[in-house]
Amino acid sequence: DAEKIDYKGKIKQLLIDKNAVLVAHYYTDPEIQALAEETGGCVADSLEMARFGKEHPATTLIVAGVKFMGETAKVLTPHKTVLMPTLEATCSLDLGCPIEEFNKFCDQHPERTVVVYANTSTAVKARADWIVTSSCALEIVEHLDEQGETILWGPDKHLGAYIEKQTDADMIMWDGACIVHDEFKTKALNDMKALHPDAAVLVHPESPLDVVALADAVGSTSQLIKAAQDMPNQKFIVATDRGIFYKMQQLCPDKEFFEAPTAGEGATCRSCAHCPWMAMNGLKAIHDSLIDGEGREIFVDNDLREGALKSLGRMLDFSA
Ligand code: 13P
Ligand code: SF4
Repeated sequence: DAEKIDYKGKIKQLLIDKNAVLVAHYYTDPEIQALAEETGGCVADSLEMARFGKEHPATTLIVAGVKFMGETAKVLTPHKTVLMPTLEATCSLDLGCPIEEFNKFCDQHPERTVVVYANTSTAVKARADWIVTSSCALEIVEHLDEQGETILWGPDKHLGAYIEKQTDADMIMWDGACIVHDEFKTKALNDMKALHPDAAVLVHPESPLDVVALADAVGSTSQLIKAAQDMPNQKFIVATDRGIFYKMQQLCPDKEFFEAPTAGEGATCRSCAHCPWMAMNGLKAIHDSLIDGEGREIFVDNDLREGALKSLGRMLDFSA
């Protein structure tokens, strides 16, 4: 509608005026992903967002995603202004892993290598030896296991359980979950599979292990998009946030995608998966952040930044 077109136009001009670039996650709304593409920004998974923001010459990054993504950008590029449409956009994994308690957990197991999922605060990252995203978690834990290291893993218990199963590494887990992926259930997914027997099932590993077990491909958002392109199937049932359909449909216009149901019973999607925090990233909020960064700019404590830079740096070097 006219109001939205107006915001788009204004944002485009503001991005140029402020030497800013839009860095968006695959779970943001389609209009935001489209705008990032049109303006030379990126639409990406959390690992690629970190890399893009670090390497892009713009002096201001607008991170459309959730807070940990903005904090990661600031840790990697402290000299850049990092804005977010709203600082309220958090993540249940981040909320469920407060630093005081996580420190206690780590202190109880000083012999273990602390491997932390990127969906956490800068303070938790500073406590970690390694950061991982779902793109590189499996390879990094495999590598550490081969070195004979034992792992303290946090905060996503489902991703941790999946990695433990795949690698057989010695892991103890923090008890956290993504509220969006936690809602996928095997019963409903099996019912849907029965309706579409020729569909391949794509699952993000933040989903429960029994749901992951039903998958034909498991992976990060970017890996699931690649699977949709590479697999010969014409139909896919996708267990992750529905924001991902924008890119899947764009890259595979002739294929058919179905949202995996999040309800416990039945094969229809009663409450389809969409992260409430990703949904906070609207065009108006992006526009407003460019007009007035007050209350929308990311700052990180300098000591924490140095600690987090070490663990993030290991991840980036490993997956380069
Ligand atoms: P990806 O790293 O796969 O993009 O996942 C980030 C995230 O928050 C998924 O819920
Ligand atoms: Fe966090 Fe889940 Fe939202 Fe991703 S989808 S940002 S893991 S709450």
